[in-house]
Amino acid sequence: MTFELPQAPLQSLNLPWLQAAGVEAAVLRLDLIDPLISGNKWFKLRHHLDRARQSGAPGLISLGGNHSNHLHALAAAGKRFGFATVGLLRGHAQDTPTVRDLQALGMELHWLGYGGYRERHQAGFWEPWQARFPGWHCIPEGGGGPAGAQGCALIVEQARAQLAALAWPDYHAWWLAAGTGTTLAGLVLAERGAHTVHGALAVPANHGVAQTVEVLAGSAGYQLHAACRGGFAKVDDELMAFIADCEGHTGVPFEALYTGKALLALREQVEAGLFAAGTRLIFVHTGGLQGRRGYL
Ligand SMILES: Cc1ncc(COP(=O)(O)O)c(C=O)c1O
Repeated sequence: MTFELPQAPLQSLNLPWLQAAGVEAAVLRLDLIDPLISGNKWFKLRHHLDRARQSGAPGLISLGGNHSNHLHALAAAGKRFGFATVGLLRGHAQDTPTVRDLQALGMELHWLGYGGYRERHQAGFWEPWQARFPGWHCIPEGGGGPAGAQGCALIVEQARAQLAALAWPDYHAWWLAAGTGTTLAGLVLAERGAHTVHGALAVPANHGVAQTVEVLAGSAGYQLHAACRGGFAKVDDELMAFIADCEGHTGVPFEALYTGKALLALREQVEAGLFAAGTRLIFVHTGGLQGRRGYL
């Protein structure tokens, strides 16, 4: 069995600050592909699910925080496709809307504390979990790694297949949020330098996104832009007002931590003149709307 991916619509994104600069944009609505396995998560999980199915793994284990979009999608995918799921969570047990959903979707939760979670990149981190859950498929944080990036190449195919409907002969560049950098790396690999991929960093520069992208996709074909506004998951009044304004203009919902910050960083760069008039940009809506419950 393969895990069929629904088509994400590509829609015109009309915002006054884009029009003022003569920049055309379209938004690839990954948020609309599935009510639960939403956004870039479907793409990042695709190959992991295939591998788990091929190896006859009884279940899937991965890591995340207590508002994690990735764990949310993983729990939903496990339930839908018949895999048990285990979530290793940062910090101490907390009751959030996401955590309640994870439990309702049947995910078994283990809270690692903060120190325990920091060890996730150490060699040997997975060993005790593999001993405890023999044969289960372990997925890096955020669905990362080469399998996650390769799954994201399909995002490029999906957008290209819809350019004619927008009457676009081509496009010039991509713009999307980067958390681990996996999705961005997938786009860079698929583009092979044909179009620049711009990543708006949802995390501070010292979180290793640049290194991750370099390992997965090399050092060319993309640019990273600061966008986290003081730290991952930090929100401020200007950001929230900007999101409300964009939603009012476009009817597209954005969450603050990834897509909202990415769009605000795009406005800053458009206003700073990064893109010449006539540029056609594809903004990837990477989903994550379930996470809005964490800060609203
Ligand atoms: C909504 C949303 N957008 C973007 C990202 C960033 O994706 P990546 O980790 O592949 O950079 C994530 C998660 O990490 C996310 O949940």
